[in-house]
Amino acid sequence: MTVAYACSKVILFGEHAVVYGQPAIAVPVPQVRATATVEDAASGEGVTIAARDLDVIHRLGNPVPDDEAHPLELTVRNTFERIGVSERQDLLVEVASTIPIARGMGSGAAVATAIVRALSAHFGARLTASEVSELVYKTEMVHHGTPSGIDNSVIAFEKPVYFIKGEAPQTFEVGRLFCLVVADTGVSSSTREIVADVRESWRADPECYDSLFADVGSVVMAARASIASGDTAEAGRLMNVNQALLEEIGVSSPEIEALVGAARQAGALGAKLSGAGRGGNVIALITSAVRQRVVSALRSAGAACVITTDVK
Ligand code: MEV
Repeated sequence: MTVAYACSKVILFGEHAVVYGQPAIAVPVPQVRATATVEDAASGEGVTIAARDLDVIHRLGNPVPDDEAHPLELTVRNTFERIGVSERQDLLVEVASTIPIARGMGSGAAVATAIVRALSAHFGARLTASEVSELVYKTEMVHHGTPSGIDNSVIAFEKPVYFIKGEAPQTFEVGRLFCLVVADTGVSSSTREIVADVRESWRADPECYDSLFADVGSVVMAARASIASGDTAEAGRLMNVNQALLEEIGVSSPEIEALVGAARQAGALGAKLSGAGRGGNVIALITSAVRQRVVSALRSAGAACVITTDVK
């Protein structure tokens, strides 16, 4: 039996603008993760993929077009093809995850990453982080339509990444450890739909949206410098600027703004939505002195779940 894991992630800066070629920064969140287990099945059983938490039991049948395939099946098939192993196997591939679904934490990319890692290890194939990321990107394209590729990159590399679509992700060092609070609005959000809505708005007014995206890009570049030099106060301030731009882009919501306001009032250095928005998670950058106060304030303001994670 072979077991592999994959962490979740949050986008610190630059969501949405990253789809239009601007840089973005994302960090891994190891506190919640996906697990994949591969074991040999009885002869003649074929390949079964089971996600028991989701009531999914899927048998690998005849190939179907990628956009009709179940994302788990697509990941398994693409991995077999990549490592040069025939699909005619008797295998049970089980997946489980503690990552909240549809909250901007990359649950789909993490499950796919865990599958790629477990299957390749089971067959003794060594894939680099960028090879894993490329395989998972193929599944992301089916989940999300026009993904930038940031989710699969940060999850495959398990390091803070500075990411520009179409370029190799740059992992980078954090100058001083900082703490993030990740608070769930309790509202599911569909990345695919929100990215499509932003595209409509951009088509309707390209000049305005290109300028908003460029402003986000400038914030991201400044944020990278502040994180690398350990200036967390400046990084927090830039998170607030990024949140204001996301509000203008049209992806914030009253639930997000209630949590952002609560975190800032309780002493966070900065707070913003993370991921596609209109629900999902809010992140707050904090010092350890205010950790308990910010966590309590977020809970009182209605956060469904609160996680704290150190970024180093
Ligand atoms: C989703 O986690 C982040 C978005 O920027 C979409 C993407 O980058 O593909 C909204």
